Amino acid sequence: MEAKKTQIERAAEAIKNAKFLTAFTGAGISVESGIPPFRGQGGLWNKYDPRMIEISFFQENPEQSWSEIKKIFYSSMKSAKPNPAHLTLAEWEKQGLLKGIITQNIDNLHQEAGSKTVYEFHGTVNYLVCTVCGKRFFHTDVDLNQDMPSCPECRGLLKPDFVFYGEGIPRGAYDNSLKLASKSDVMIVVGTSGEVMPACHMPVIVKQNGGTIIEINTLPSTYTESISDFYFEMKAGEILPALAEAVKKLN
Ligand code: APR
Repeated sequence: MEAKKTQIERAAEAIKNAKFLTAFTGAGISVESGIPPFRGQGGLWNKYDPRMIEISFFQENPEQSWSEIKKIFYSSMKSAKPNPAHLTLAEWEKQGLLKGIITQNIDNLHQEAGSKTVYEFHGTVNYLVCTVCGKRFFHTDVDLNQDMPSCPECRGLLKPDFVFYGEGIPRGAYDNSLKLASKSDVMIVVGTSGEVMPACHMPVIVKQNGGTIIEINTLPSTYTESISDFYFEMKAGEILPALAEAVKKLN
């Protein structure tokens, strides 16, 4: 009698045999890189007021908003480096196993890990956009020490180029993410509470199309009891390398 396969072995088979493997990631994948999550233990929204990244609050209180935004998003981002979870996904893409990543994260760590097809559903902290002339600048090309960072071209107020509450999803990221999810037969869902629409609907699309969901989260999420076929209650930086080892054994 064949020994009962472990959950890791069965998940590794699903990954290896996938026709169109994708990943959907949230803040949890970057926690081991030193970036706090938004919710749950050590969550940013336990410490800071999410109104700071609410678009009408930002427009009415730019100085207060910017002061908090720098603390929340720019202080921890500088030192953060990709961790083994980001690196595993990048390696699977290089091997032609993973087709792309839809990320809710704005920290650019997937790209720094070497991933090429990354759709940033909520934009990026790496760029700022002028609220007057619309010009976009890389964050090192502007002076962030100002209380209210201003546009080098027209002196207008700059805003980080990530999606504030009350703003729409960047058109390109939305369309590309929808396309990727619609083609995916296996999606690895890593480090997300699955609470923020419309991003959190991406894994549901895969499930509705008959796909397989492999969830990695240190706590149960909205997906765990509803759409996850596999659930690893482990740190992403530990389980993803273990899954990579199990996939290698199948070769
Ligand atoms: N490994 C795996 N999962 C982890 C780890 C870890 N090391 N550490 C934390 N987690 C899990 C938490 O249990 C939680 O379920 O990651 C999840 C992070 O959830 P959130 O903080 O809600 O982050 P996310 O789902 O990405 O939030 C979505 O909310 O505020 C907005 O725009 C913001 O993109 C963000 C969106």
